[in-house]
Amino acid sequence: MISNKKIGIIGTGNMGEAIVGGIIASKVSSPKNIICSDVRADRLNLVKSQYGVATTKNNLKVVRESEILIYAVKPQNMAATLKETSAAMNMSKLIISIAAGVPLAVIESCVKKQLRLIRVMPNIATFVKEGAAAIAGGKHAKREDLKMAKTIFDSVGKSIIIEEELMDAVTGLSGSGPAYIFLIVTALADAGVKMGLSRQEALFLSAQTILGSAKLLLETNEHPGRLRDRVTSPGGTAIAGIHTLEEGGLRTTLMNAVEVATLRSKQLGEMMVKNFSRQ
Ligand SMILES: NC(=O)c1ccc[n+]([C@@H]2O[C@H](COP(=O)([O-])OP(=O)(O)OC[C@H]3O[C@@H](n4cnc5c(N)ncnc54)[C@H](OP(=O)(O)O)[C@@H]3O)[C@@H](O)[C@H]2O)c1
Repeated sequence: MISNKKIGIIGTGNMGEAIVGGIIASKVSSPKNIICSDVRADRLNLVKSQYGVATTKNNLKVVRESEILIYAVKPQNMAATLKETSAAMNMSKLIISIAAGVPLAVIESCVKKQLRLIRVMPNIATFVKEGAAAIAGGKHAKREDLKMAKTIFDSVGKSIIIEEELMDAVTGLSGSGPAYIFLIVTALADAGVKMGLSRQEALFLSAQTILGSAKLLLETNEHPGRLRDRVTSPGGTAIAGIHTLEEGGLRTTLMNAVEVATLRSKQLGEMMVKNFSRQ
């Protein structure tokens, strides 16, 4: 479906490179069908030597030559990049934006054209091909377009399709979530050190415990409450620990964190829209 399509990636920074690596490693596409652009020669040299893709500093050339485009520049560079490339954008191309906080309606009004647009919110785990991404289609995106976007983001992790209005909630949960998990891992490791483990042992055990628990949950598809019950034997250690976590309000704290991060994402998005219209 995608393998014979030309894919263009504008912005080959952290995310752009991770996506190039993912689609090539998973054979979703091949280097001969990928062209990348960036303002930085060092980034272009890197993707060219590492993945064998074509590169150029000319964003417009990338848009002209591609059937699927991924805009992976920073949100503050989106307006300029869209204006620079709008002449070659049209309904024959699928346009995917991963710019955080930039609504599809804003892209469309910036380009002043009807487009097959898709917005994606990936997360940092994309770099290790375990990203969690949410995909939302614009007014003119077809079912086939959503499928193609899903194929691309499933090559760097796992993805779901949602309505665009839920993007702030996604940002508050899976977009910001790795930061919460890193905090939890550090706290667990500190606790391990306090109880006598070396820092290295404690950090490894806490990170691997989180990885293993997530894998068990996703692979068995069991309810997390049932899995928790399997670990908590009567009068045992885990239930004693859980009692303390409940007393400390862990669940309420995490729910509050996702709620405030969602509201902050909405606020930042509104500021972004104002800046966009000024550019
Ligand atoms: N990183 C994440 O974890 C993450 C998570 C979710 C969403 N996102 C979204 O993904 C997008 C990319 O993020 P990133 O972390 O990959 O950023 P990044 O590492 O800064 O990559 C962006 C690249 O685009 C280049 N660039 C700037 N202006 C350009 C232009 N006009 N044309 C072509 N290239 C241009 C940048 O060069 P300079 O460095 O010289 O500006 C940089 O090499 C952002 O919109 C962000 O919101 C990122």
